[in-house]
Amino acid sequence: MSTENKLRILFLGDLVGKPGRLAVQKFLLQNSEKYDFVIANVENASHGFGLTAKNYEELSSFGIDCMTSGNHIWDKKDIFQYIDEADKLIRPINYPNAPGKGYKIINVKEYKVGIINALGRNFMPVIDSPLNSIEKVLEEIKKETNIIFIDFHTEATAEKMCYAKYFSEKGITAFIGTHTHVQTADEKIIDNKTAYISDAGFCGSTDGIIGMDYETSIKHLLTMMPGRFEVASSENVCINGVIVTVNTSSGFAEEIQRINVQMML
Ligand SMILES: [Fe+2]
Ligand SMILES: [Fe+2]
Repeated sequence: MSTENKLRILFLGDLVGKPGRLAVQKFLLQNSEKYDFVIANVENASHGFGLTAKNYEELSSFGIDCMTSGNHIWDKKDIFQYIDEADKLIRPINYPNAPGKGYKIINVKEYKVGIINALGRNFMPVIDSPLNSIEKVLEEIKKETNIIFIDFHTEATAEKMCYAKYFSEKGITAFIGTHTHVQTADEKIIDNKTAYISDAGFCGSTDGIIGMDYETSIKHLLTMMPGRFEVASSENVCINGVIVTVNTSSGFAEEIQRINVQMML
């Protein structure tokens, strides 16, 4: 789909469970020729928590080129067996001494796209500084490509917005927030350079609570006891994300378009 000097990159918000995987499969079957490169956050793709090796392979076969993650990346125990060999998967870069990689550089046509994943620190697990962790690798990535996406996974919009401005000044292409599963309507291009949205949203059942089942969610609130959260199961699903049009000469974003597609499985 690329026209000269342009790449169209699709970023999908957190896939939640089987409804999220099936929604993305259906959406990409119908639309994949519109995009040159597809990034998806998969931290909730396997029954709402983490990503199994089986689902990693399944999502790869749907045409997802890079999978980012977040605080739920470690929830399925087989992640430790395959993450070092998973070419398309990254985990937050600021987990200290963890297996896997916090960034990747992936070829698309004659170009390279660098993708970095980081966790924020407001209302999130205690973790290394995202700023220091990203800056450690940014110059290395810039030696190979000027097209750089950051998936910044955290709760607070102000934290995402502030780091986005900071890294825009460092010349990155896109700074996409994830984690809340609620899409924000504040997409913009910062300083004519960096595509930004506070949260891309999620892909999954629209009948639940951010993709999870209402009954198990309300039970937790009514009792405040630990319990098992289930994925919402329904045929009503949504695809949330953004499409970023990149000028491959400058490495800057020219356009960001929010997508919020409702469909039946
Ligand atoms: Fe999530
Ligand atoms: Fe998360």
